[in-house]
Amino acid sequence: MQEKTVVREAVLEDSLALTKLAWQLGHQAEAGQVRARLFDLLNRDDHKVFVAEVDGELRGWVHAFINRPLHKDTAVEIAGLVVDQNCRKMGIGRRLLDTTEDWAKTQGCDQVTLSSSLAREGAHKFYQAIGYQLTKTQYTFKKELLK
Ligand SMILES: CC(C)(COP(=O)(O)OP(=O)(O)OC[C@H]1O[C@@H](n2cnc3c(N)ncnc32)[C@H](O)[C@@H]1OP(=O)(O)O)[C@@H](O)C(=O)NCCC(=O)NCCS
Repeated sequence: MQEKTVVREAVLEDSLALTKLAWQLGHQAEAGQVRARLFDLLNRDDHKVFVAEVDGELRGWVHAFINRPLHKDTAVEIAGLVVDQNCRKMGIGRRLLDTTEDWAKTQGCDQVTLSSSLAREGAHKFYQAIGYQLTKTQYTFKKELLK
């Protein structure tokens, strides 16, 4: 039987499934924190979390937001994207980004951007397969602030 994939906006009740998929991204996210963050994001117009359900099971998500730098054009940026490891190469990632791109257009954005770790070679092939171009490689920096 053909699987039915539906992409929709996330709701708070998705938070546990989102958390478990975040683990596959390599982030040791804690369910309560993900739920609290999702609650915040769902109340904002400049962030979207879309989920993909296959036969009613949540199998992928994308979090995107509107990035408004002072010195560059506004763009929708992908903050996170993951598809369940048992459901990859079935077109789910493409569906999630199609939906994100449609949202970007409704927001007046004509580009979608993202950063991806050098180690994620499969993801790089995926992005290029669906029309994203590599524009540069860069370092990222972080400073932990004392409380
Ligand atoms: C990257 C990821 C989201 C792709 O999702 P997906 O549902 O498997 O991708 P799709 O099935 O929609 O693939 C779309 C296209 O990309 C290609 N593709 C996907 N993964 C690929 C891979 N690892 N290697 C080569 N091509 C790949 C597909 O073959 C398809 O091309 P086609 O339409 O020409 O056949 C998924 O592999 C994933 O969750 N990876 C782990 C987390 C991750 O790296 N996230 C991105 C962080 S920046």
